[in-house]
Amino acid sequence: MKIERGNFGSKVGIVLATAGSAVGLGNVWRFPYMAGENGGAAFILIYIACIFILGIPGMLSEFIVGRHGQANAARSYDKLSGGKPWKFIGYLGILTSTIILGFYAVVAGWCLQYLFASIVGQLSGDVQYVKAYFQDFSCHPVYPVLWGVYFILVTQWVVMRGVRSGIERASKFLMPILLILLLVLVVASCMLPGAVDGIRFLLKPDFSKLSGGVMLEALGQAFFSLSLGTACLCTYASYFTKYTNLLNSAGQIALLDTIIAVLAGLMIFPAAASVGVSPDSGPSLIFITLPNVFQQAFSAAPFVGYIVSLMFFVLLSLAALTSLMSLHEVATAFFEEEFHTTRKHAAIVVTTTTIVIGAFCSLSLGATDTLTFFGRSLFSWFDFITGQIFLPIVGFLTCIFIGWYVDHQIVRDEFTNWGELRGRFFHLYIFLVKYVCPLAILLIFLHQLGALN
Ligand code: TRP
Repeated sequence: MKIERGNFGSKVGIVLATAGSAVGLGNVWRFPYMAGENGGAAFILIYIACIFILGIPGMLSEFIVGRHGQANAARSYDKLSGGKPWKFIGYLGILTSTIILGFYAVVAGWCLQYLFASIVGQLSGDVQYVKAYFQDFSCHPVYPVLWGVYFILVTQWVVMRGVRSGIERASKFLMPILLILLLVLVVASCMLPGAVDGIRFLLKPDFSKLSGGVMLEALGQAFFSLSLGTACLCTYASYFTKYTNLLNSAGQIALLDTIIAVLAGLMIFPAAASVGVSPDSGPSLIFITLPNVFQQAFSAAPFVGYIVSLMFFVLLSLAALTSLMSLHEVATAFFEEEFHTTRKHAAIVVTTTTIVIGAFCSLSLGATDTLTFFGRSLFSWFDFITGQIFLPIVGFLTCIFIGWYVDHQIVRDEFTNWGELRGRFFHLYIFLVKYVCPLAILLIFLHQLGALN
C-alpha cells in the first residue's frame, strides 16, 4: 500500500512547528537558572557558541536523514544505511520519544491543573501552602493521571488531523500566542520595583564562573533544548519540501529557541528579585516558587497578579503542547507507515501506550512506593535513561552516521538542495559533524554520568 505522505505547507510553518518542538519546559525551568548561576551573559555567549558548534550541525544531520528518507525515523535511517543495521538509531530514537512522551505528559498535565487552579483561585496562599499544594497534588493517585490524560488527548487530536492541518496549523497559531504572552510577562516582570537585580543576575557577565564543567553544562543544554537525539527533528524533516533551506531553517529555529530561553529568564528573575526570592531550577521552580512569586509581586493589584499567573500557566501549557505534538508524531508516523494502518489508528495506539507509561510514572511519584527501584522513582528512571543515555547515543551515532558512513555526495545534495544553494558552509559542517560533534556529545555523556566534572 502506498501511503500519501503529508508535508508542511510553508517555510513559516516549518520553522514554527520545529521551534515548537524545541521550545519546551527546558527553556523555562532549566536555561534561565543555568545562565544566572553560571556567569550570566558570559554563559549565554558560551551557550550560543555551543549552538553553533553542536546544535546547528546536530539539527542539520537529523534534517538530512529525515528529508532524504521521506519516511518515519526508522525507515529514513534504513534508506541511507545500505542494508547495514543503522536503522536501529531510528528505533532507539522512536523508543526514546515514546518514553519521554509518557513522562512529559505527566508534567504537562500538572501545567494544565495549575492553569485550572489559577483560574479558580486555588493557588493563593503563602509559600508553605503552595508547597503543600504541589506535594498533595503530585502524589495524588488520580488527579495528576487524569490531567495528563486530558493533555495527551488534546495532543492526539492535533496530531490525528495530520501534518499540515494539524501540527502546522496548530503551531502557526500557538507559537505567536506563546511569544506574545512571554513578552507581556517580561514587560510586567521588568517593571516591578527591584526588578533590576533580577536582570543583573541573569545578564551580568562573570567570566570567572566559566569552568570546564560549566561549558559541558552549556553543551548539554544546547543539545537538549534543540530536541536533538529523539528522532523528532528527523521525523519533522521528512515533511519538509525539497525547497526547504535546511541550514537557514536550523539557524532560525535555534535563534527562536535561544531568544525564548533568554526571555524566560527576563520573566522569572525580575519578579523573583522584586519579592526577594531566590529561584531554583526544575519542577519546583514553576510549581512551587513562581506561583507564589507572581502573586506576591503583584499583591498591590491582585487582579493583575491573577491574570499574570494565569498567563504564565497558559504559556507553559502551550510550550508543553507543541513539544508533545512532535514527540507524538514520531511514534505515530512510525506505526502508520510500518504497520500500514490509518493515522487515526496509529495515533490511538501511541496515545494508549503513552497513557500507560504516563500513569505509571505519575503513580511512582508518591501514590505508591512499589514503583521505586534502587531509590529512584520510575519517573526519574525514565528521565535519567532517556535524557542521559539514549539521547546522547542517538545524537552521537547520527553524527557518526552522517560524518563517516553516508556518501558525502548525498549529504551535499541535501545540504545544497541538489545544487540550488551555494553550500558555503558545507565543509565546515562536515568537519564539525565528523570530529567535533561526536567528541562534544561524548564529553557531555561522561560529564552527566559524573565521570567528568
Ligand atoms: N527541547 C525541549 C525543551 O527544551 C525538551 C525536549 C527534549 C524535547 N527532547 C525533545 C521536546 C524532543 C520535544 C521533542 O524543553
